[in-house]
Amino acid sequence: MSHDEAISQLASPSAHARGQAARALGDVGLGGDLPAIRKALLRETVSYVQYALQDTIKRLTNKTGPRPDEPEEGINVPPEVRQQIYGQAVEWVTGFLLHEIASPVGLAMVSAKREIGAEWENSRTWRHLETIHRVFDAIEMLKNAAGAPRPQEFDLATLLQEIIETEVPDAQPSISRLGAKPFVLKGDPGLIRMVVSNGIRNAVESVSASGVEPAEHAVVINWGKTDIDYWVSVLDRGAGITGPAESAFEIGSSTKRNHSGFGLAIARQAIDTLTGEVTLEPARNGGAVYTARWKR
Ligand SMILES: Nc1ncnc2c1ncn2[C@@H]1O[C@H](COP(=O)(O)OP(=O)(O)O)[C@@H](O)[C@H]1O
Ligand SMILES: [Mg+2]
Repeated sequence: MSHDEAISQLASPSAHARGQAARALGDVGLGGDLPAIRKALLRETVSYVQYALQDTIKRLTNKTGPRPDEPEEGINVPPEVRQQIYGQAVEWVTGFLLHEIASPVGLAMVSAKREIGAEWENSRTWRHLETIHRVFDAIEMLKNAAGAPRPQEFDLATLLQEIIETEVPDAQPSISRLGAKPFVLKGDPGLIRMVVSNGIRNAVESVSASGVEPAEHAVVINWGKTDIDYWVSVLDRGAGITGPAESAFEIGSSTKRNHSGFGLAIARQAIDTLTGEVTLEPARNGGAVYTARWKR
Protein backbone atom coordinates (compact mmCIF):
# COMPACT_ATOMS: atom_id res chain seq x y z
CA MET A 1 0.00 0.00 0.00
CA SER A 2 1.38 3.42 -0.92
CA HIS A 3 1.70 6.23 1.56
CA ASP A 4 -1.14 8.26 0.02
CA GLU A 5 -3.42 5.23 -0.20
CA ALA A 6 -2.83 4.45 3.47
CA ILE A 7 -3.59 8.01 4.54
CA SER A 8 -6.87 8.11 2.63
CA GLN A 9 -7.82 4.59 3.75
CA LEU A 10 -7.66 5.76 7.39
CA ALA A 11 -11.09 7.28 6.78
CA SER A 12 -12.59 4.12 5.26
CA PRO A 13 -15.96 2.97 6.65
CA SER A 14 -14.52 -0.54 6.91
CA ALA A 15 -12.67 -1.28 10.16
CA HIS A 16 -10.63 -3.92 8.35
CA ALA A 17 -9.42 -1.37 5.80
CA ARG A 18 -8.63 1.17 8.53
CA GLY A 19 -6.64 -1.47 10.38
CA GLN A 20 -4.64 -2.27 7.22
CA ALA A 21 -3.96 1.41 6.66
CA ALA A 22 -2.89 1.91 10.27
CA ARG A 23 -0.41 -0.97 10.05
CA ALA A 24 0.91 0.09 6.63
CA LEU A 25 1.65 3.55 7.99
CA GLY A 26 3.93 1.96 10.57
CA ASP A 27 6.24 1.24 7.60
CA VAL A 28 5.52 3.89 4.98
CA GLY A 29 4.35 6.67 7.32
CA LEU A 30 6.30 9.85 8.05
CA GLY A 31 6.65 11.97 11.16
CA GLY A 32 4.45 14.58 9.49
CA ASP A 33 1.58 12.08 9.38
CA LEU A 34 1.37 11.94 13.18
CA PRO A 35 -1.34 14.61 13.56
CA ALA A 36 -3.58 12.83 11.00
CA ILE A 37 -2.99 9.46 12.69
CA ARG A 38 -3.70 10.89 16.14
CA LYS A 39 -6.93 12.38 14.81
CA ALA A 40 -7.88 8.97 13.40
CA LEU A 41 -7.18 7.44 16.81
CA LEU A 42 -9.48 9.94 18.51
CA ARG A 43 -12.44 9.03 16.31
CA GLU A 44 -11.68 5.28 16.15
CA THR A 45 -14.18 3.06 17.97
CA VAL A 46 -12.86 -0.42 17.13
CA SER A 47 -10.31 -1.62 19.63
CA TYR A 48 -7.94 -3.56 17.35
CA VAL A 49 -7.71 -0.59 14.97
CA GLN A 50 -6.99 1.60 18.01
CA TYR A 51 -4.12 -0.71 18.95
CA ALA A 52 -2.74 -0.63 15.41
CA LEU A 53 -2.92 3.18 15.38
CA GLN A 54 -1.25 3.45 18.79
CA ASP A 55 1.49 1.10 17.66
CA THR A 56 2.06 3.12 14.49
CA ILE A 57 2.18 6.36 16.48
CA LYS A 58 4.86 4.82 18.70
CA ARG A 59 6.89 3.65 15.74
CA LEU A 60 6.71 6.95 13.90
CA THR A 61 7.54 8.88 17.07
CA ASN A 62 10.65 6.77 17.57
CA LYS A 63 11.59 7.32 13.93
CA THR A 64 11.43 11.08 14.21
CA GLY A 65 12.76 11.33 17.76
CA PRO A 66 11.23 13.67 20.31
CA ARG A 67 9.97 16.88 18.78
CA PRO A 68 10.32 20.10 20.72
CA ASP A 69 6.71 21.10 19.99
CA GLU A 70 5.41 17.80 21.39
CA PRO A 71 6.81 17.64 24.88
CA GLU A 72 4.43 14.86 25.99
CA GLU A 73 6.17 12.44 23.61
CA GLY A 74 9.66 13.50 24.55
CA ILE A 75 9.49 13.56 28.34
CA ASN A 76 9.05 10.22 29.98
CA VAL A 77 6.18 10.76 32.44
CA PRO A 78 5.65 7.67 34.61
CA PRO A 79 2.10 6.23 34.33
CA GLU A 80 1.32 6.86 38.03
CA VAL A 81 2.14 10.54 37.64
CA ARG A 82 0.14 10.76 34.42
CA GLN A 83 -2.82 9.15 36.21
CA GLN A 84 -2.49 11.53 39.12
CA ILE A 85 -2.48 14.53 36.78
CA TYR A 86 -5.50 13.11 34.98
CA GLY A 87 -7.32 12.62 38.29
CA GLN A 88 -6.57 16.20 39.29
CA ALA A 89 -7.85 17.44 35.93
CA VAL A 90 -11.06 15.44 36.35
CA GLU A 91 -11.57 16.86 39.82
CA TRP A 92 -10.95 20.39 38.62
CA VAL A 93 -13.17 20.24 35.52
CA THR A 94 -16.05 18.48 37.26
CA GLY A 95 -15.83 20.87 40.21
CA PHE A 96 -15.92 23.82 37.83
CA LEU A 97 -18.93 22.44 35.95
CA LEU A 98 -20.85 21.82 39.15
CA HIS A 99 -20.05 25.21 40.52
CA GLU A 100 -20.85 27.20 37.37
CA ILE A 101 -23.74 25.26 35.86
CA ALA A 102 -25.50 23.38 38.64
CA SER A 103 -26.99 26.44 40.23
CA PRO A 104 -28.48 27.97 37.02
CA VAL A 105 -29.94 24.54 36.24
CA GLY A 106 -31.49 24.41 39.72
CA LEU A 107 -32.92 27.90 39.17
CA ALA A 108 -34.33 26.87 35.78
CA MET A 109 -36.02 23.95 37.51
CA VAL A 110 -37.64 26.19 40.11
CA SER A 111 -38.88 28.82 37.66
CA ALA A 112 -40.07 26.27 35.09
CA LYS A 113 -42.09 24.53 37.77
CA ARG A 114 -43.68 27.82 38.78
CA GLU A 115 -44.39 28.90 35.19
CA ILE A 116 -45.75 25.57 33.96
CA GLY A 117 -47.92 24.94 37.01
CA ALA A 118 -50.20 21.89 37.08
CA GLU A 119 -48.74 20.39 33.88
CA TRP A 120 -45.20 20.42 35.30
CA GLU A 121 -44.77 16.69 35.81
CA ASN A 122 -46.13 15.85 32.35
CA SER A 123 -44.07 18.51 30.61
CA ARG A 124 -41.13 17.93 28.31
CA THR A 125 -39.26 20.64 30.16
CA TRP A 126 -39.46 18.54 33.30
CA ARG A 127 -38.21 15.45 31.44
CA HIS A 128 -35.27 17.28 29.90
CA LEU A 129 -34.34 18.96 33.17
CA GLU A 130 -34.48 15.57 34.88
CA THR A 131 -31.98 14.25 32.35
CA ILE A 132 -29.65 17.16 33.05
CA HIS A 133 -30.08 16.52 36.74
CA ARG A 134 -29.09 12.88 36.32
CA VAL A 135 -25.95 13.87 34.43
CA PHE A 136 -25.07 16.36 37.16
CA ASP A 137 -25.40 13.69 39.83
CA ALA A 138 -23.04 11.55 37.76
CA ILE A 139 -20.55 14.42 37.34
CA GLU A 140 -20.60 14.94 41.08
CA MET A 141 -19.87 11.26 41.60
CA LEU A 142 -17.01 11.47 39.10
CA LYS A 143 -15.58 14.39 41.05
CA ASN A 144 -15.76 12.39 44.27
CA ALA A 145 -14.12 9.43 42.55
CA ALA A 146 -11.10 11.61 41.79
CA GLY A 147 -10.72 12.92 45.36
CA ALA A 148 -8.00 11.74 47.73
CA PRO A 149 -8.74 8.34 49.35
CA ARG A 150 -9.80 8.27 53.03
CA PRO A 151 -8.83 4.82 54.25
CA GLN A 152 -10.49 3.15 57.21
CA GLU A 153 -11.05 -0.39 58.41
CA PHE A 154 -14.37 -1.94 57.35
CA ASP A 155 -16.05 -5.22 56.42
CA LEU A 156 -16.34 -5.63 52.66
CA ALA A 157 -18.97 -8.40 52.97
CA THR A 158 -21.30 -6.07 54.89
CA LEU A 159 -20.69 -3.23 52.44
CA LEU A 160 -21.62 -5.50 49.52
CA GLN A 161 -24.79 -6.64 51.27
CA GLU A 162 -25.74 -3.06 51.97
CA ILE A 163 -25.11 -2.04 48.33
CA ILE A 164 -27.39 -4.85 47.14
CA GLU A 165 -30.15 -4.00 49.63
CA THR A 166 -30.18 -0.32 48.79
CA GLU A 167 -29.38 -0.26 45.08
CA VAL A 168 -30.89 -3.42 43.59
CA PRO A 169 -33.35 -4.64 46.27
CA ASP A 170 -35.63 -6.50 43.83
CA ALA A 171 -32.75 -8.55 42.45
CA GLN A 172 -31.67 -9.94 45.84
CA PRO A 173 -32.93 -13.53 45.25
CA SER A 174 -30.84 -13.87 42.08
CA ILE A 175 -27.58 -12.55 43.59
CA SER A 176 -25.13 -14.86 45.37
CA ARG A 177 -22.24 -13.65 47.49
CA LEU A 178 -19.46 -16.19 47.66
CA GLY A 179 -16.52 -14.48 49.36
CA ALA A 180 -15.49 -14.74 53.02
CA LYS A 181 -17.83 -13.12 55.58
CA PRO A 182 -16.67 -11.04 57.31
CA PHE A 183 -13.81 -9.74 55.16
CA VAL A 184 -12.17 -6.87 57.00
CA LEU A 185 -9.78 -4.66 55.11
CA LYS A 186 -8.35 -1.17 55.17
CA GLY A 187 -9.44 1.05 52.32
CA ASP A 188 -11.76 3.88 51.32
CA PRO A 189 -15.28 2.39 51.50
CA GLY A 190 -16.73 5.30 49.50
CA LEU A 191 -14.43 4.69 46.53
CA ILE A 192 -14.82 0.91 46.75
CA ARG A 193 -18.60 1.36 46.78
CA MET A 194 -18.40 3.38 43.54
CA VAL A 195 -16.34 0.65 41.90
CA VAL A 196 -18.47 -2.27 43.02
CA SER A 197 -21.97 -0.79 42.91
CA ASN A 198 -21.64 0.19 39.25
CA GLY A 199 -20.54 -3.36 38.40
CA ILE A 200 -23.43 -4.90 40.33
CA ARG A 201 -26.01 -2.55 38.85
CA ASN A 202 -24.81 -3.26 35.30
CA ALA A 203 -24.90 -7.02 35.97
CA VAL A 204 -28.47 -6.85 37.28
CA GLU A 205 -29.54 -4.63 34.37
CA SER A 206 -27.94 -7.00 31.88
CA VAL A 207 -29.76 -9.99 33.39
CA SER A 208 -33.09 -8.22 33.19
CA ALA A 209 -32.35 -7.03 29.62
CA SER A 210 -31.73 -10.63 28.55
CA GLY A 211 -35.46 -11.27 29.00
CA VAL A 212 -34.88 -14.59 30.74
CA GLU A 213 -36.58 -15.02 34.12
CA PRO A 214 -33.72 -14.29 36.59
CA ALA A 215 -32.68 -17.57 38.18
CA GLU A 216 -30.73 -18.18 41.37
CA HIS A 217 -27.05 -17.30 40.86
CA ALA A 218 -27.85 -15.10 37.84
CA VAL A 219 -25.32 -12.73 39.43
CA VAL A 220 -22.41 -14.13 41.41
CA ILE A 221 -20.21 -11.82 43.45
CA ASN A 222 -16.89 -13.05 44.73
CA TRP A 223 -14.06 -11.33 46.58
CA GLY A 224 -10.70 -12.02 48.15
CA LYS A 225 -7.10 -10.94 48.38
CA THR A 226 -3.67 -11.83 47.07
CA ASP A 227 -0.31 -10.84 48.54
CA ILE A 228 -0.47 -7.52 46.76
CA ASP A 229 -4.10 -6.65 46.14
CA TYR A 230 -7.79 -7.00 46.99
CA TRP A 231 -10.26 -8.06 44.31
CA VAL A 232 -14.00 -8.24 43.68
CA SER A 233 -15.59 -9.95 40.69
CA VAL A 234 -19.18 -9.78 39.48
CA LEU A 235 -20.23 -12.52 37.10
CA ASP A 236 -23.59 -12.30 35.37
CA ARG A 237 -25.65 -14.51 33.08
CA GLY A 238 -27.05 -11.52 31.27
CA ALA A 239 -27.26 -10.49 27.65
CA GLY A 240 -23.48 -10.16 27.23
CA ILE A 241 -21.39 -7.24 26.01
CA THR A 242 -22.15 -5.51 22.74
CA GLY A 243 -19.26 -3.75 21.04
CA PRO A 244 -15.71 -3.28 22.34
CA ALA A 245 -15.69 -3.61 26.13
CA GLU A 246 -13.08 -0.86 26.42
CA SER A 247 -15.43 1.79 24.99
CA ALA A 248 -17.94 0.94 27.77
CA PHE A 249 -15.58 2.80 30.14
CA GLU A 250 -15.78 6.07 28.25
CA ILE A 251 -17.76 8.89 29.83
CA GLY A 252 -21.28 8.91 28.42
CA SER A 253 -21.04 5.55 26.67
CA SER A 254 -24.30 3.65 27.16
CA THR A 255 -26.37 1.12 25.25
CA LYS A 256 -29.37 1.70 27.55
CA ARG A 257 -32.18 4.19 27.17
CA ASN A 258 -32.35 6.92 29.84
CA HIS A 259 -28.91 6.10 31.21
CA SER A 260 -26.14 8.63 31.46
CA GLY A 261 -23.38 6.10 30.76
CA PHE A 262 -21.16 7.42 33.56
CA GLY A 263 -21.11 4.25 35.67
CA LEU A 264 -17.96 2.59 34.40
CA ALA A 265 -16.14 5.89 33.91
CA ILE A 266 -16.79 6.62 37.60
CA ALA A 267 -15.67 3.11 38.53
CA ARG A 268 -12.44 3.51 36.58
CA GLN A 269 -11.71 6.90 38.10
CA ALA A 270 -12.34 5.53 41.60
CA ILE A 271 -10.09 2.52 41.03
CA ASP A 272 -7.36 4.78 39.62
CA THR A 273 -7.56 6.81 42.82
CA LEU A 274 -7.19 3.58 44.80
CA THR A 275 -4.36 2.41 42.48
CA GLY A 276 -5.85 -0.56 40.71
CA GLU A 277 -7.79 -1.59 37.64
CA VAL A 278 -11.26 -2.64 36.49
CA THR A 279 -12.04 -4.84 33.52
CA LEU A 280 -15.21 -5.97 31.77
CA GLU A 281 -14.96 -9.16 29.74
CA PRO A 282 -17.30 -11.67 28.12
CA ALA A 283 -18.01 -14.59 30.46
CA ARG A 284 -17.46 -18.15 29.26
CA ASN A 285 -21.14 -19.11 29.08
CA GLY A 286 -22.53 -15.81 27.83
CA GLY A 287 -23.00 -12.85 30.12
CA ALA A 288 -20.11 -10.79 31.40
CA VAL A 289 -17.54 -10.70 34.16
CA TYR A 290 -16.53 -7.46 35.80
CA THR A 291 -13.36 -7.54 37.88
CA ALA A 292 -11.88 -4.86 40.10
CA ARG A 293 -8.54 -5.12 41.86
CA TRP A 294 -6.73 -2.53 43.93
CA LYS A 295 -3.54 -2.31 45.91
CA ARG A 296 -3.47 -3.57 49.50
N1 LIG B 1 -22.42 -6.67 32.88
C1 LIG B 1 -22.55 -6.14 31.67
N2 LIG B 1 -23.03 -6.87 30.64
C2 LIG B 1 -23.19 -6.34 29.42
N3 LIG B 1 -22.88 -5.07 29.09
C3 LIG B 1 -22.38 -4.27 30.06
C4 LIG B 1 -22.19 -4.76 31.39
N4 LIG B 1 -21.68 -3.75 32.13
C5 LIG B 1 -21.58 -2.70 31.30
N5 LIG B 1 -22.00 -2.99 30.06
C6 LIG B 1 -22.03 -2.11 28.89
O1 LIG B 1 -21.28 -0.94 29.19
C7 LIG B 1 -22.09 0.23 28.99
C8 LIG B 1 -21.62 1.33 29.93
O2 LIG B 1 -21.90 1.00 31.29
P1 LIG B 1 -22.05 2.19 32.34
O3 LIG B 1 -20.84 3.05 32.20
O4 LIG B 1 -22.35 1.62 33.66
O5 LIG B 1 -23.27 3.03 31.78
P2 LIG B 1 -24.84 2.73 31.83
O6 LIG B 1 -25.07 1.59 32.79
O7 LIG B 1 -25.41 4.03 32.29
O8 LIG B 1 -25.22 2.38 30.42
C9 LIG B 1 -23.51 -0.26 29.20
O9 LIG B 1 -24.44 0.59 28.56
C10 LIG B 1 -23.45 -1.64 28.60
O10 LIG B 1 -23.58 -1.59 27.20
MG1 LIG C 1 -24.23 1.43 34.66
